[in-house]
Amino acid sequence: MKDVKRILVTGANRGLGLALTEQLLSEGHVVFAAARKPESFVALQAKYPETLLPVELDMERPDSFETCFQKVQASGAPLDVLVNNAGVHLDGGNWQKNTTLEVSMATLRQTFEVNFFGLVDFTRHMLPLLNGSSDPRIVLVSSIMGSLTMHASAQGLGDIKPFAYDASKTAVNAFLVHLAHALKEGPTRVFAAHPGWVATDMGTDRAPLSPQEGIATLHKLAVGEELPPNGAFVHLDKEIPW
Ligand SMILES: NC(=O)c1ccc[n+]([C@@H]2O[C@H](COP(=O)([O-])OP(=O)(O)OC[C@H]3O[C@@H](n4cnc5c(N)ncnc54)[C@H](OP(=O)(O)O)[C@@H]3O)[C@@H](O)[C@H]2O)c1
Repeated sequence: MKDVKRILVTGANRGLGLALTEQLLSEGHVVFAAARKPESFVALQAKYPETLLPVELDMERPDSFETCFQKVQASGAPLDVLVNNAGVHLDGGNWQKNTTLEVSMATLRQTFEVNFFGLVDFTRHMLPLLNGSSDPRIVLVSSIMGSLTMHASAQGLGDIKPFAYDASKTAVNAFLVHLAHALKEGPTRVFAAHPGWVATDMGTDRAPLSPQEGIATLHKLAVGEELPPNGAFVHLDKEIPW
């Protein structure tokens, strides 16, 4: 076992977040598993009683950010890695549809509340916990669907145009670029990850990758040794156009 890291994963109760949490725990890392229902980790905690620390977190409830902060802080040493994975796709079941003209403002706002505003606010709230880590990192789970270049290119994403989701991930990418600049004088490295198309509740069972395969990019950015340049938006070893 190499370096033991202390890692917080949001949306850790299912999908990619759960697969990443299980992988990190199996490697001996300490994981703060953040979820709206932390009681969902009872079975997993029986397996990892010392290293799994469930924390309550709702990306739509900023008061839960402070509770989460306090819990991590109370546990002692600094946090090494923050993985902002929680996210929603609320445009409707058909991904191959352009929802730009019809998605309601309520859906647009709620998508941004979780995927963007919550993520920005939570990240800023948690930043002081990274102070003192020898290798602090922040991983934002974005999507290729936030790439304006891919959407605008003829060979790009075609009819896959759920507007609320796509725009929220483009905003996440904007946060990444600005965050990397804001933190450039310090040790913290920040990345945005596209996991690939993964068979989760969000990705549907038509997706080609299992959650265990889909965490490869997230895992590499969180605890890997060979990293892309600071501020990069990547899938596996490849940078994705903005
Ligand atoms: N699956 C893919 O193909 C794919 C591709 C590209 C990017 N992504 C991104 O990967 C991330 C994880 O997606 P997934 O496929 O694992 O989706 P998922 O299976 O639908 O899981 C979403 C996770 O986000 C949590 N979440 C949603 N709203 C929340 C809130 N208000 N507060 C706290 N947690 C909340 C969910 O918790 P609850 O159980 O409480 O709802 C759940 O743990 C997302 O950011 C997604 O956009 C996925």
